Amino acid sequence: MAIDFSGDPFAKGFFAPTRFEADIHDCEVEGDIPQDIDGTFYRTCVDRRYPQRHPRDIPYNADGMVDMFRIRNGHCDFRTKYVRTPRYVIERRERRSLFGVYRNKLTSDPLVRDVSINTANTTPIVHAGKLFALKESSPPMLLDPHTLETFEEHDFGGAMTATSFTAHPKIDPVTGEMLAFSYEAKGDLSDDLAIHFFAADGTLERSVWVKAPAVTMMHDWAITDKHVILPTTSMVTDRARLEAGGDHFYYDPDQPAYVGIMPRDGDAKDIRWFRGPPERAMVVHTLNARTIGNKVILDTPVAGGNFNPQFANIDGSPFDHDARRNTMRRWTFDLDSASDTWEEEIIFPGIRPTSFARMDDRFLTQDFRWSFNLLGDPDLPWDAQASGVPAGAATNAWYRFDHHGMAIAKFFAGPAHVLFEPQFVPRRDDAPEGDGYILGVANDLAAMRSELVIADAQHLADGPVARVLMPFRLHMQVHGWWVPSTTLPFDFGRDYDYHGPDYA
Ligand SMILES: [Fe+2]
Repeated sequence: MAIDFSGDPFAKGFFAPTRFEADIHDCEVEGDIPQDIDGTFYRTCVDRRYPQRHPRDIPYNADGMVDMFRIRNGHCDFRTKYVRTPRYVIERRERRSLFGVYRNKLTSDPLVRDVSINTANTTPIVHAGKLFALKESSPPMLLDPHTLETFEEHDFGGAMTATSFTAHPKIDPVTGEMLAFSYEAKGDLSDDLAIHFFAADGTLERSVWVKAPAVTMMHDWAITDKHVILPTTSMVTDRARLEAGGDHFYYDPDQPAYVGIMPRDGDAKDIRWFRGPPERAMVVHTLNARTIGNKVILDTPVAGGNFNPQFANIDGSPFDHDARRNTMRRWTFDLDSASDTWEEEIIFPGIRPTSFARMDDRFLTQDFRWSFNLLGDPDLPWDAQASGVPAGAATNAWYRFDHHGMAIAKFFAGPAHVLFEPQFVPRRDDAPEGDGYILGVANDLAAMRSELVIADAQHLADGPVARVLMPFRLHMQVHGWWVPSTTLPFDFGRDYDYHGPDYA
């Protein structure tokens, strides 16, 4: 049977599946990796093992891989490995694609109708010494944080009964607790939400179950030291669509925005749903939130419309490439007010970032100053011929926003370099906010290889201080996660090897 990716419109050139796993001991480095960087950078990526079963399937539904960059004393080791999801294991055994379109089991081979659709391709996160690869449709996949070996689809000792789990848990940097939520939490199309509270030691202490005002994609959320904040979106779903063999979601521009706010020490009866106009209903990723007095303030990118051409508009209209772009907004919810809506301010007008906004995570839930954002900047040099990508179409810049002074600094990696989400790395555990580095993978489309670029977060305009050179192109990242070695210790001299009995 031929293995042929030619029918996949996303599998072209640099973006074709790599389908390999690799270890590189002591990577090539250009420049000098700062000595005070000591820890592990994980990323989750999408990379198909087999050609998609349905021609119009989307990259969201591709197999998950985890990359690991381990950095110490100016050296970097690299490892990449597929997550052995139940889906991966059975497709490997059968040597073919068995799963249908994104989150629609009705389009899968009958052989796998009872097998988890988990692709584990969205976010890597470390909490209480455990590494999880997350996909919002499914429970977490538990991995070995040193070998990247897969252990299991995890339910926290049976405590987590929801059928799904967000790819964006939040770790409270003050208490060490992890908070997470599940939507469609009792199976496809259910209007059940679960809000999970984990102790710093990883124990799931309680889950609060509430009803959603609408069944929509809920990709990200936010927490403060006192509240959780749950935005719905305009990505809707229904049974008729699934039975017709469609994707799970489509975009409805008339779907209003709801935001649920619940005290962290509250219960289901305490959640309050605010309602906003449809043009506020497209939060993909949040940045940070705080509770100040009786106000909850959320800084977040919000798109002007459908954020992803992979999801069709409900009315069949063509995708609006301008509306997909975000503005950074500040939403203020007054808990003392009887109003069911909230105030909105666009805080960096004229700048249209992607939703990949990150910060110094040590300041999550607190007052903060800096954010780090991914965007396409048409004013930076771009080699359309060498890269094969038109000018203005690539994410070629990181911007640091100053949320106090509203100033902006820019980072640029090269004229054919596509960047992903920026990852902040503090200089030391006790360094002031924003004192440290930004790192992330850049894909050099001209050279057809990838590199890890590292910049000083306070001198972004100086460009990279170091580039860790990969001798190949890497797969497409979704999200990354940094863990300092003070949180996740490792032995840099040891050759961590695979050891599990069920290694497939
Ligand atoms: Fe995400």
